[in-house]
Amino acid sequence: GPRLPQVVVLVGATGDLARRKLLPGLFHLASAGFIPGCRIIGVSLDDLDADGFRQVARGALDEFGARKVSAEAWEAFAASLDYVPLSGGAPALKAAVERAEQSLGTESQRLHYLSVPPNAALPVVRMLGEAGLVARSRIVMEKPFGTDLASAVSLNARLHEVFAEEQIFRIDHFLGKEPAQNILAFRFANGLFEPIWNRNFIDHVQIDVPETLGLGKRAGFYEQTGAYRDMVVTHLFQILAFMAMEPPTALEPQPISEEKNKVFRSMLPINPGDVVRGQYSGYRSEEGVDPESDTETFIALKCHIDNWRWAGVPFYLRTGKRLAEGQRIISIAFREPPKSMFPPNSGVGSQGPDHLTFDLADASKMSLSFYGKRPGPGMRLDKLSLQFAMRDTGLIGDVLEAYERLILDAMRGDRTLFTTAEGIERLWQVSTPLLESPPPVRLYAQGSWGPKPVHQLIAPHAWRLPF
Ligand code: BG6
Repeated sequence: GPRLPQVVVLVGATGDLARRKLLPGLFHLASAGFIPGCRIIGVSLDDLDADGFRQVARGALDEFGARKVSAEAWEAFAASLDYVPLSGGAPALKAAVERAEQSLGTESQRLHYLSVPPNAALPVVRMLGEAGLVARSRIVMEKPFGTDLASAVSLNARLHEVFAEEQIFRIDHFLGKEPAQNILAFRFANGLFEPIWNRNFIDHVQIDVPETLGLGKRAGFYEQTGAYRDMVVTHLFQILAFMAMEPPTALEPQPISEEKNKVFRSMLPINPGDVVRGQYSGYRSEEGVDPESDTETFIALKCHIDNWRWAGVPFYLRTGKRLAEGQRIISIAFREPPKSMFPPNSGVGSQGPDHLTFDLADASKMSLSFYGKRPGPGMRLDKLSLQFAMRDTGLIGDVLEAYERLILDAMRGDRTLFTTAEGIERLWQVSTPLLESPPPVRLYAQGSWGPKPVHQLIAPHAWRLPF
């Protein structure tokens, strides 16, 4: 755990993310003893008092918490909660933080967690400055960080007027997922894979994150972001960097960021002609959505990393809401063997190329699929696979959820799994052609795999999903 007790200022404390992940996560960290003495001050636009906020928190634990909440653990947690409405401004917040610090009666540290939409981040940062809550503080900024290059550059500049870079933790929760970190272990702790991890052996890569979820109550956020800003420029590109980066000189924040940033620097600008944008039918009549909204709820694209390792290897990314299945996979398709001695009707190649697939589901899964001989006379080939599931290993104990892990890292000042200003600005830069001339959104049926042209995009290959 962190060295000092923490006072957490949770801005956006009644929002979707806070209720789904942050409050249950903080509860778990507190009740499991990771953050002794922690105090949490909720802040949001809602006009609540501390008791009202406790009810919100309790509701969130009951609805979204993964664990049973004992009366004792709840009482301790409830006692650590306080609340100030945003309308109280800097003075009310300052007073609440002072109260919390006094009640701790010892040296402590602050963690400001900004779970707010991109356009609300700056006013909150200014308020923290005005309230004098900068010293002994770290600040966690939720994604998307800005909405384009200009806004990200300006947000970084304004942020640096108040907080030093070492205090800023730009969070991307996909990097806190166990399986994402397992990509690094898999690539760099073994001798088998890294020699083939390049354009000589790999034909293309797919990062595919379809979701069955819809909009929920997030119209206000989602209408400003859409699938590209919500998922691709953040999570999917971060995962892509883990897949594509060179071995870092050490498993430490700076060398890792440096290698990731080199990947981003080598990315070619996104060509709008290589992008399919979609919107599920019915989206425009969701509560809070503009009836003529052009926001995409689906996006698929092809991108390139133009360096020695990856030149000519397309990376296909796809994600969207209200699709047929919820999955998070990375699939690597290997190149065909240089020559085939199998007769054309043997089945060789008939089920696509051989693949290595990572499943970013909570417990890592991996599979390697390859052609093998079907038992019997003659030479008939079938696609077979080797499967690994972390769940079967008995190694899974009380795993920290992605947000929990990252909150704890931020409290300890460990930046290894956070993103950098430079990396994010570069990602907005490669996104500029797409953001400036996005292709029109195409409607798709709820429960489908997205609009039809998603298949043309990947041709002559095929999407690995559905399996
Ligand atoms: C969030 C996005 O960052 O990630 C959501 O805002 C998305 O739209 C979510 O549903 C997916 O995260 P996970 O951990 O459920 O895969």
